[in-house]
Amino acid sequence: MSKNLVVLISGRGSNLKAILEAIKSGKINAKVSLVLSNKKDAKGLEIAKEYGIKTKFIDPSFFETRRGYDIYIAELIKKENPDFVVLAGYMRILSDEFIDAFEGKIVNIHPSLVPAFQGKSAQRQALDYGSLITGCSVHFVTKELDNGPVIVQAVVPVLPEDTEESLSNRILEFEHKIYPQAIKWLVEDRVVVSGRKVIVKDAKYGTLPVNPSLEDF
Ligand code: GAR
Repeated sequence: MSKNLVVLISGRGSNLKAILEAIKSGKINAKVSLVLSNKKDAKGLEIAKEYGIKTKFIDPSFFETRRGYDIYIAELIKKENPDFVVLAGYMRILSDEFIDAFEGKIVNIHPSLVPAFQGKSAQRQALDYGSLITGCSVHFVTKELDNGPVIVQAVVPVLPEDTEESLSNRILEFEHKIYPQAIKWLVEDRVVVSGRKVIVKDAKYGTLPVNPSLEDF
């Protein structure tokens, strides 16, 4: 049976678009019933509308606390009965109440090889550190920031002449492959979590730059 996704965004929405394209082309057997943003002018809201998807902007300034906001949006999202809540450039830390509401069903993409360079501006952090390798990770969201069990990672080189923009773009190309791929695995019930460890059933492990290997993207 087709699975249902709710996607949370804060901005540009290029990962959202990659996921919507993969659904449209039939690679992912799922639908997105709602795209929710905490930013009114998030470009991703326009992208969602182009694909005929319901959107909501919920203004955080109407809420006294982050917890209050998160409890409110959790109630809205529950009405959609999602199989997975997909964070795609959602730039707010989620409170424990939200994570409890969708335990084991929230996934995120982060532009580093977690646990390296957690939090904001991960690409800038990699450059400033002098790292020669970075990448991106799709992981489950737990109460520890950017540190839940990892489903798939892609390795990306840092070049001497890189700017934050050039490095971000190189990483983004892989984000657009690994996020749809991870969601495909999730909706096909191939992702098995055991403590911190994640195994994707029947996936091929051991060949970089993406581990486990891409099958469809
Ligand atoms: C992406 O690079 C994503 O990995 C990052 O924000 C960007 C959103 O781009 N997310 C984080 O840094 C989360 N901590 P998009 O709106 O074009 O998908």
